[in-house]
Amino acid sequence: MTAPARAAAIWRHRLAIEREAVGHFGWLAARFAAQGDHDLAARARQAAADERDHAGRCQAVIAALGGDPAPPAAAPLPALGPAALPAADRALYAAVAVGCVTESLSCALLLALRATATHPQVVATLDAIVRDEIDHARLGWAALARAAARADVGWLGAHVDAMRAAAVADEVAAVAGDDALAALGVLPRAQAAAVVATTWATVIVPGLARHGVVAGATSAPVAS
Ligand SMILES: [Fe+2]
Ligand SMILES: [Fe+2]
Repeated sequence: MTAPARAAAIWRHRLAIEREAVGHFGWLAARFAAQGDHDLAARARQAAADERDHAGRCQAVIAALGGDPAPPAAAPLPALGPAALPAADRALYAAVAVGCVTESLSCALLLALRATATHPQVVATLDAIVRDEIDHARLGWAALARAAARADVGWLGAHVDAMRAAAVADEVAAVAGDDALAALGVLPRAQAAAVVATTWATVIVPGLARHGVVAGATSAPVAS
C-alpha cells in the first residue's frame, strides 16, 4: 500500500472519532441544558458543531490522499459511564472523559502532528482542528471545576483508569501509524505513546488532582 493510502486509512479513524464526538457533545449539551447550566450547554452545542466541521475536513484530507471519503456506517453512540450513576453524575463523567481526558490528549497529539506535517492541506486541517480541540478540553475542565465547587467529586477517581484506557485506544488509533507518514499527518506509534505519557503526567493528572479526583501522580505510565 502506498504512503498516501496508509495515511488515508488512519485519517478514516480520525473521521470516525470526530463523528462520534458530534454525538457525545450533542448529548452533553442536552444534559447541561436539562440541569439549567446554559453556559456549558451552549459551549457543548458549539463543540458538536465544531466536530461536524472536523469530520468534513477529515473527509477532504482522505479524498486528497486518494482514499474513500465516504463516512463509515454510523455506529450507535456508546454511552459513557456506568449506567447506575445518577443523571447529573453521568453527565459529569462524560464531560471529564470527553473533555478533560480525550480532548486534552487530542490537543497534544494534534500539536505533535502539526510539528511534522508538511502536506499543505493536512497542515491547514490540523491547524483548524487543534484550535477547536483546545476549547473542547477547556469545556471539560470548566464542567469539572463547577461540579467540584458544589460537591466532592472524588468518586470520579475510581473511573479514571477506564477513561484513560478508552481515550488512549481511540486517540492513538486516530493519529498513529508507521514511521514514514509524518508528512501526511500520522505520528510514529512510539512518538504517540510518548506524547500520551507526557500529557497524562503533566496535564491530566495535575488537573484532576487540583479538583480532588485523584491524589496526584498515582497512575502507572501509559504503555500505548
Ligand atoms: Fe474534533
Ligand atoms: Fe473536540
